[in-house]
Amino acid sequence: MTVGMADPLIGVPELDSLIETAVGGRIADGPEVRTFESEFAEHCAVDYGVATSNGTTALHAALHGLGIGPGDRVVTTPFSFVATANAIRLCGAVPVFADVDAATLNLDPVSVRETVRAHDGDVDAILPVHLYGLPAPMDELRAIADEYDAALVEDAAQAHGATHEGRPVGSIGDAACFSFYPTKNMTTGEGGMVLTDDEELADRIARFINHGRAGAYEHSEVGHNFRLTSLGAGLGRAQLDRLTTFVDVRRRNAAEYDEALADQPAVTAPPDPANVRHVYHQYTVRTDHREALQAALGDAGIDTGVYYPTPIHQQPAYADVGGTAPVAEHAADTVLSVPVHPSLTRGEVDAVADALAGFRP
Ligand SMILES: Cc1ncc(COP(=O)(O)O)c(C=O)c1O
Repeated sequence: MTVGMADPLIGVPELDSLIETAVGGRIADGPEVRTFESEFAEHCAVDYGVATSNGTTALHAALHGLGIGPGDRVVTTPFSFVATANAIRLCGAVPVFADVDAATLNLDPVSVRETVRAHDGDVDAILPVHLYGLPAPMDELRAIADEYDAALVEDAAQAHGATHEGRPVGSIGDAACFSFYPTKNMTTGEGGMVLTDDEELADRIARFINHGRAGAYEHSEVGHNFRLTSLGAGLGRAQLDRLTTFVDVRRRNAAEYDEALADQPAVTAPPDPANVRHVYHQYTVRTDHREALQAALGDAGIDTGVYYPTPIHQQPAYADVGGTAPVAEHAADTVLSVPVHPSLTRGEVDAVADALAGFRP
C-alpha cells in the first residue's frame, strides 16, 4: 500500500476517469509531458523538446536559455503576432525590426542585413517567424546569423509540419518555438514547446520554466512556472497523431483556393514556393480591395480575418522602438485571411473558392 501526499482525484467522476485513461492519473507534471516532448521533437527531427505553458513562454525561455538578456538586440519581423516581440522584451532585450519580403511577408534577408549593419553588427539573435505556415528564408538568415555570431531562433508558432528544403521547420534554428493555442495547426489548449539539438540549452530551458529547479527543492537560479499540464500533453499527443492529416487537408483546401484565384485579377493568392512545404495556418490573400472582398465574403456567410492590421513597430506598446517598415505597413493594409482549417466541409471549401473566384470589386 502507498499512502500518497497528493490528492490524485479532482472529484468529478467523468473527469477523474478521463485523467486516469488519458494521462495515467497525473493532471500536471506527469510522464505524459515527457512523452509528448520526445514525440514532438522526433516528429520535427530534433533531439530535445521542452514543453511550455504557451508559445510566448516558449520564446521567452528559448531566448533566455540562449543568454539573451537586458540590452541585447534581437532582429525580428514587425509583421507578426505581438507575442514575437513581447518575448524579446520580457527577456529585457531590445527588438530591432527589419522589413519583410513583399511576396512572402517573411523577414527579408536584405533588410535584415541592412538592419544588422545599421547597428554595426552588434546584434545577439535573429528571430524569424514562419508566417501563416510559410517557412522563412532560413539559409540566408543562417548565413547572416553566423557572420555576426548571433543566435538564430525560429518562431514556428504557425508552422507545425512545415518543411524548408526538405528539413522540418523546428530543426533549423539554434532553437525553435511552437504554440499549441487552439487556432494553431495542432493544439494542447494552451501550450507551447521549445525544440533544440543542444542538450545543455534544453537543460537550461527546462530549469528556467520550472522555478530554476535543479533537483527536489534545490533551485540553482530564479525561474518561472511556464510548464505544460499533463492533460495538455495528452491532448497534444492525440493531435500530433493527426498533424500530417490536418496539414494535408489544409494544403488541399489551399490548392482549391489557388485554382479559384488563377484568373482573378483583383486578388492575389499566397505564394507556395517549391523549396518549402507551406502548411497554411492561414490562407492569406492580397488585395487592394480588402473592404469590398471582406463584405462580399461576409454576404456569402464566410468569416475573414486580418492578420495583422497594425505592424508591431506601430503598436503603442512599441512606440519607443518605432521606425518604419514600408513593406510590412503595406501588407497590413492589403492582407485578408479566409477559412482554411481542416474541419471545413467540402461544400464550405467550394463556397469560399466560388466567392473568391466570383469577386468583382
Ligand atoms: C507568430 C506567433 N508567435 C507567438 C505566438 C504566441 O503563442 P501563444 O499564444 O501560445 O502564447 C503566436 C500565437 O499566438 C504566434 O502566432
